[in-house]
Amino acid sequence: MNAAVVDYINVHRDRYVDELKQFLAIPSVSALPEHAGDVRRAAEWAADALRTAGMENVRLMDTPGNPVVYADWLNAPGKPTILFYGHYDVQPVDPLNLWTSPPFEATVRDGELYARGACDDKGQVFMHIKAIEAHLKQTGSLPCNIKYFLEGEEEVGSVHLDDFVRDHKQDLSADVVVVSDTPMFDRGVPSITYGLRGLAYFQLDVRGTKSDLHSGAFGGAVANPAIVLAQVLAQMKDRGGRIKIPGFYDAVRPLSDEERAEWKKLPFNETRYRKELGAPKLFGESGYSTLERTWARPTFDINGLLSGFTGEGAKTVLPATAMAKVSMRLVPDQDPQKIGDLFEEYVRKICPKTVELKITRMHGGRPWMAEFDNKFVRAAGRAIEQGFGKTPVFNREGGSIPVVATFQQELGIPSVLFGVGLPDDNLHAPNEKLDLGNFHNGIIASAFLYQEIAAVE
Ligand code: BES
Ligand code: MN
Ligand code: MN
Repeated sequence: MNAAVVDYINVHRDRYVDELKQFLAIPSVSALPEHAGDVRRAAEWAADALRTAGMENVRLMDTPGNPVVYADWLNAPGKPTILFYGHYDVQPVDPLNLWTSPPFEATVRDGELYARGACDDKGQVFMHIKAIEAHLKQTGSLPCNIKYFLEGEEEVGSVHLDDFVRDHKQDLSADVVVVSDTPMFDRGVPSITYGLRGLAYFQLDVRGTKSDLHSGAFGGAVANPAIVLAQVLAQMKDRGGRIKIPGFYDAVRPLSDEERAEWKKLPFNETRYRKELGAPKLFGESGYSTLERTWARPTFDINGLLSGFTGEGAKTVLPATAMAKVSMRLVPDQDPQKIGDLFEEYVRKICPKTVELKITRMHGGRPWMAEFDNKFVRAAGRAIEQGFGKTPVFNREGGSIPVVATFQQELGIPSVLFGVGLPDDNLHAPNEKLDLGNFHNGIIASAFLYQEIAAVE
């Protein structure tokens, strides 16, 4: 590749980080209505960054929710087109007191940039923008065509995005989708992710009486909703970690011997993993390894649980209500809609008639898995090797990016997931961070990617 492009990235290394800090200063928390203005500001900031980099047709496109940012550069006739996807919204920051530095004042410590969104996903989005800038400023052109597509609702389930993709098939048409919104396998082990889990998310509300009651005066005469909810939830899994919803596993694609064998070769240290998580002992579905449990097997989890008196001291109360947020991670070929129906049916069946039960469907997303032996994946592998000095390994991930399955289904385009996060980057947690070495190498890899994709036939 043109050496001047890499020179440019090296020379402007610190400025890139300073600019990223500005992006990270915008609290674009999509889950909280009070941040709606900030979400919009982040979209505008990203649009400006794309303009500065030299992208064309930069615009915000309306959706019923937060705007999409679109930009393109289509002046390489006959060459492939890459569609970049990422998100400019971030997760809430609570609990704030556990952050070492303020979440929206990006701070460098030991080569890591700490801020909400540093890794998920503003840093990774910015990485590709800066690689585009390096090409356009140094050579006046890009080796292939590029479309850039950012959403602002990924962290709240991308609820409007499927319709948007269906309504804008022409705008989004491309040969390959590139997404950087995942961790790499480990520090120093870059990876290409070829599978994601899907999701089905619910809220359960249980009501026992019209108001809280004195637990001495009334205890024993009516059902306690906290106990009822606990009993319902306790029937979701058996002791071996298997989910008890009838039909839940019917569509689960068994793990192939080949995949199992490949994963055994990955440099995964279970003891180190356990220690880093601070878990006394690992736990999961019996018969499967940790990587298999998180990448290829579905889960049921309680994400939040609330009832009764939780302050200091003791209060003798019979709570009127109990609430749980629960979700299931899904694997190919489970369908979130069907799983949702099975879940509802089972919960209604096992929940006693002593309480009122309300089930609310929050959001969902389909699982995704790709054929990874294709020319675009190989091109990405070569680019990553140039940026990181190592050939990437292939992995699946346990997290979800709902639109990736939609790209496959609606646009029929393969996706290449090339993330530069680390497993301990604290996504969604206090002290989220991005390794600045990975950020820099990722920009170089991205610059090579355009070249490598341009060369595929
Ligand atoms: N970047 C993550 C997805 C991710 C995380 C993939 C870790 C692989 C490993 C994304 O921003 C995310 O958090 N997705 C949500 C989706 C949900 C809100 C529908 C998730 O996985 O919980
Ligand atoms: Mn993300
Ligand atoms: Mn996320």
